[in-house]
Amino acid sequence: MVRPEPYRIKMVEPIRLISREERERRIAEAGYNLFALRAEDVFIDLLTDSGTGAMSDAQWAALLRGDESYAGSRSFSRLQETVRELTGYRYVLPTHQGRGAEHVLFPLLITRPGQLVIGNLHFDTTRAHIQLAGGRPVDLVIPEAYDTTVDHPFKGNLDVDRLEALLKSTPRDAVAFILVTVTCNSAGGQPVSLANLRAVRAVADKYGVPVFLDAARFAENAYFIKMREPGYAGRSIPSIVKEMFSYADGLTMSAKKDGLVNIGGLLALRDDEDLFRRCQARLVPFEGFPTYGGLAGRDMEALAEGLREAVDEDHLAARIGQVERFGRWLEEAGVPVQRPIGGHAVYVDAKRFLPHVPPHQFPAQALAVELYREAGVRGVEVGSFLLGRDEEGRQQTAPMEFLRLAVPRRTYTDNHLRYAAEALERIMARRDAIGGFRIVYEPPVLRHFTAHLAPV
Ligand code: F0G
Repeated sequence: MVRPEPYRIKMVEPIRLISREERERRIAEAGYNLFALRAEDVFIDLLTDSGTGAMSDAQWAALLRGDESYAGSRSFSRLQETVRELTGYRYVLPTHQGRGAEHVLFPLLITRPGQLVIGNLHFDTTRAHIQLAGGRPVDLVIPEAYDTTVDHPFKGNLDVDRLEALLKSTPRDAVAFILVTVTCNSAGGQPVSLANLRAVRAVADKYGVPVFLDAARFAENAYFIKMREPGYAGRSIPSIVKEMFSYADGLTMSAKKDGLVNIGGLLALRDDEDLFRRCQARLVPFEGFPTYGGLAGRDMEALAEGLREAVDEDHLAARIGQVERFGRWLEEAGVPVQRPIGGHAVYVDAKRFLPHVPPHQFPAQALAVELYREAGVRGVEVGSFLLGRDEEGRQQTAPMEFLRLAVPRRTYTDNHLRYAAEALERIMARRDAIGGFRIVYEPPVLRHFTAHLAPV
């Protein structure tokens, strides 16, 4: 039975498809880098689910209630109260977005150069902030995550045996903290189970290592737990969310995803008052005064409302159901995708889609370019192009070459996604003729945003 969205649409934003000739010209002018396109030349934008969702009428109304006081804003109090209720954490600091929270927190936890930050799979800006703070990111996601053909209900799980082996063989002061990303974006929006979080906590306690959650998609993770983890079908989403957070000492959150706002982030700590004071002290120069942290009062007001809507089960069922349908259409068309379908995006396995294009010719980038040419749809490469070079300047090879098709929340209809799926089906039929790319210009860090490419 079809389960319709629990909302109707009262405002629309026109989009248009420019001609194929124009698309060819635009993508060439952009140096075959989809980040360099003008958004108005994109028909359906699946670049990211970050900050691209639609706010509800209640959120728009909340903007007008925003209290813009520099200090002690009422909107901050409302946000703080919401986050406390949702997480059970005492200390709440707003930030301008997720990476703002990382920038405040990580240097306080990484106290000497080379300390390890162990996670399932760190997101790219998170990895960059670990490195900027002098730490070394370590990815210990379970091996199933790297095989897109294997079904596993919690492919985002951290490999607890390898975690324990690593902690056992490493001096305590060589490890800064553990950071579990929920859902695990880089593995395909794959969830982490409560059993896994509990086990990580137990191992961490044994070795005295703090645990944090990178909680951008915390509500989607909770929904998967309810659907897939034995014993949780009858539990409410808020109670699962609270249990998830109970296994960590704090969180960083990009509120631009599940928080249902266009900008915003959070840093929250369970009970460590000393660390909170030190976070506050860093927040002021980098983000802003502790009761606004880089956000307008109206932003905090909209976020408080967004966080409440995020844990509504009907919302999550519609949201994750739509991404699931999108994935199913692609699978039915024979397009290889990461299985099972994740929470916020479908990840096309470009290694299997374009097996004749080697990793260093960026098969997922080639596919992203082709999808834009074919249909004006924008996805993003998550593979070797994104990964970049090692310290000696050698191109690294990513374990997976993904074209991520992220679905903004409450923004596109099924028809938009069906159109994108049909375009990939047509490309599939002529894939042997698609070639790779080489880089003709690249900056030294986070190159994928501004590099220029050319067909090989
Ligand atoms: N952590 C995760 C898991 C993320 O997915 C992101 C952003 C961040 C941290 C950083 O948050 O952008 O608010 O500073 N992910 C976006 C994406 C950009 O497209 O997946 P931010």
